[in-house]
Amino acid sequence: MNILVAKTPADAEQIAYTLIKERLAGKREFVLGLATGSTPVGMYKMFKQDQLDCRHVTSVNLDEYIGLAPSHPQSYYHFMEERLFNDVPFKESHLPRGDAKDPDAEAERYEQLVRSIGVDLQLLGIGENGHIAFNEPGTALDAKTHVTALTESTREANRRFFNASEEVPTHAITMGLDTIMNAREIVLVATGDRKANAVHHMIESVPSVDWPATILQAHPSVTIVLDTEAASQCAQALQARGSEAAARFFSIRS
Ligand code: PGA
Repeated sequence: MNILVAKTPADAEQIAYTLIKERLAGKREFVLGLATGSTPVGMYKMFKQDQLDCRHVTSVNLDEYIGLAPSHPQSYYHFMEERLFNDVPFKESHLPRGDAKDPDAEAERYEQLVRSIGVDLQLLGIGENGHIAFNEPGTALDAKTHVTALTESTREANRRFFNASEEVPTHAITMGLDTIMNAREIVLVATGDRKANAVHHMIESVPSVDWPATILQAHPSVTIVLDTEAASQCAQALQARGSEAAARFFSIRS
């Protein structure tokens, strides 16, 4: 894991955006895995401000709520259109269909699609309980794209996007941990102190289903971009690594 720690959330977003921009530059084709939630919003603004050319880029999103049609204001399809796709044209964009009649069949279709096109770089956030995409604690580490029940803590965390608690969907289709691990490169961004405990486990705990993000320790090309608050429970571990991470942690922080 390459771990970078920036002073502020905006600095972390800038670092991650710049890394993605560098990877896209000069490529004839690129498959970019995208995420929803609050973490990538600042980065998507940077895509827009820069008018980043993504006409050669195919995007695949991590997940979608079951029961919400693409036109639903809280669907991830709608989120992506509003935050990015309406302003930055991509070659093609893919998300699971939340309104599919047979969600299991839709998960299978999406898995095949993602496998067949192959993700060059997957952008990730992390949940407070250590989930990545909607792979909640307890999810098998070799899970493929599947239908999952959302935990109450995840539904509560996402409640802010809905008018009422009961409107928050109970299930989603999500890329599995194995699907995500198949990406050639992964960039995970976490900011704010509410992510500090999950980040601590992701970096320092033995990989287990209790903290799904721990699986990233086994990926050959992962960059974790944090701000100082999200890194606050890892300072000793970063120092102990004696690595570039520690050097950056202290130089950027001071
Ligand atoms: P957030 O969610 O970006 O809204 O914090 C991240 C996640 O739950 O994966």
